[in-house]
Amino acid sequence: MTESLLKPAFGGPVEGSSSDGAPVVVAIDGPAGSGKSSVSKAAAQRLGYGFLDTGAAYRALAWHALEHGADTSDATAVLEVFGDFDYAISLDTSDRWVRVGSADVTAAIREPRVTDAVSGVARVAPVRHAVNELFRRLVASAGLPGVVVEGRDITTVVFPDAAVRILLTAAPEVRAARRSKELTSQDAAAVAAALHKRDAADSTVVDFLTAAPGVEVVDSTHLDFEQTVDAVLSVVDSTMGARDGR
Ligand code: DC
Repeated sequence: MTESLLKPAFGGPVEGSSSDGAPVVVAIDGPAGSGKSSVSKAAAQRLGYGFLDTGAAYRALAWHALEHGADTSDATAVLEVFGDFDYAISLDTSDRWVRVGSADVTAAIREPRVTDAVSGVARVAPVRHAVNELFRRLVASAGLPGVVVEGRDITTVVFPDAAVRILLTAAPEVRAARRSKELTSQDAAAVAAALHKRDAADSTVVDFLTAAPGVEVVDSTHLDFEQTVDAVLSVVDSTMGARDGR
C-alpha cells in the first residue's frame, strides 16, 4: 500500500476543538443495515465535521483484488494484492470519492460482486492492522475540528479513546428490510439471507453487536432516519457537554 494518496480532500488546517488541537472523534459502530453510514454522514454534516466511511477501504481492497483476479477468500492472495493497494478517500461530506490509484471506484465498490467479496479481505488480520493505522493517520491529518468515523470495531480497536463512542443497532428484521429497500434489484429474502451471512462472517472477526464499556447504544429499530440522526447528535451533545463540564 502506498502513502502518496492517503490524504483527505481538505485544505489548510482549522482550529481543532479538542484541547490538544486534534480533531474530535465521534466513533460509530454497528452491524450492516443499522443505517450507520447514512446516519453518520448526516450527523457529520450537521456537526460541520468530516466523515470517514471505513468500510470503503475494505470494499476498495476487495475491488482491487477482483481486478487482479485474486481469490478474496485466500488470505495470502489478499495480502499479495494489498502490497500495491494505492488508496485515497475524501472526508468531505459534500464531495465524497474513493480512489484506487487513478481509478475512481466510488460507485464500483457498492456493486454486489464487491459486497460479496468484502468479508474475505476484512478478515485478514495484517490488513486490518495496516488499515486501522491508516484511519488514525487520516483523521489526525484531516485539519478539521472533528471527524465522524463509522465502521466495525471503530469504537473499540481503532479509536477506543474517541470523545464520543456510539453503537448503532436495530433489530435484524428491520435491518434486512432497510437493506432491501436500498437494493431494489434484489428480493427481500435474498437480501435478508445475504445480510445474515455477512453478519455471521464479520462477527467471527469483530464483535459489533455488543457495546463495550463506555459505548452508548442508539437503537434505531423504532426510529426513522431523522430521529436516528437526532438521537446520535443528542449523545454527542451530552457526552461533549459532560466532557467540557457543561
Ligand atoms: O460498512 P460496509 O458494508 O461498507 O463494510 C464493508 C465490509 O467491511 C463489511 O464486511 C464489514 C467490513 N468492515 C470491517 O470489518 N471493519 C470496518 N471498520 C468497516 C467495515
